Amino acid sequence: MLLGVNIDHIATLREARKINEPNPLEAIFILKNAGASQVTLHLREDRRHIHDEDFKAIISQSFLPLNLECASSMIDTIAPYSPHRVTLVPEKREEVTTEGGLDLHQKQVQDAIKKLQTHSIPTSLFIDPKIENIQLAKKLGVQSIELHTGEWANLFLMAYTNLKHTHNSIPSLNLPTQELEKQMQENLNKLKECSILAKELGLEVFAGHGLNYQNVSPIASIPQITELNIGHAIIARAIFVGLFEAIREMKELIKR
Ligand code: PXP
Repeated sequence: MLLGVNIDHIATLREARKINEPNPLEAIFILKNAGASQVTLHLREDRRHIHDEDFKAIISQSFLPLNLECASSMIDTIAPYSPHRVTLVPEKREEVTTEGGLDLHQKQVQDAIKKLQTHSIPTSLFIDPKIENIQLAKKLGVQSIELHTGEWANLFLMAYTNLKHTHNSIPSLNLPTQELEKQMQENLNKLKECSILAKELGLEVFAGHGLNYQNVSPIASIPQITELNIGHAIIARAIFVGLFEAIREMKELIKR
């Protein structure tokens, strides 16, 4: 299982002070030594964390491949720099993080895929685990998909942690543990079904969003998934144990 480490939140910390440290570029050496296979960045329209100079520096100086996540509206900005892969994601200005996968029927998304194909940039689509999305992704001619594990992560948080007693509780998931467990099983089954179909259709299958040290194992056990992209949990753990150790622990957990 390959691990892409999303280092957006190193830039989030820098932007909290609006100065020049910590610098995401400095993390790359640690990522590589700790066993990460790629660096993942999300260049958001509002540049709330990663800025253009970050992704340009990482493309030109990193010895790890860059998986650049961005909205369809950003293609003209990033394509000239030829990132190793672009993962198209939906984006709403006011959201805290990427909520839900792409709508593959949207013309803007389909046009972005065509533009990336013109530039010969391998393209991945961040999608909710639905059979229709897999079939459409295949028709659109991309190489890979990344299954959104946000629902899995939210159900897990509400079932097994104290989140529901905090101000970040998820009201729509304020359900009895038994019901949350039932929905988790359904969600996991969907992720498995979609992974099997995608692999059968010749797509590479990745997954990510909200994965952490507690909830990652069932996802890492899906044989068709070959790469996980994980950010928040690793950077959060790095505060306490350092980035190298945080990545090493995650690598250990997802080893098959
Ligand atoms: N994969 C994609 C496509 C994402 O947009 C994100 C968040 O930027 C991640 C993975 C990482 O999510 P998290 O920070 O919750 O691990």
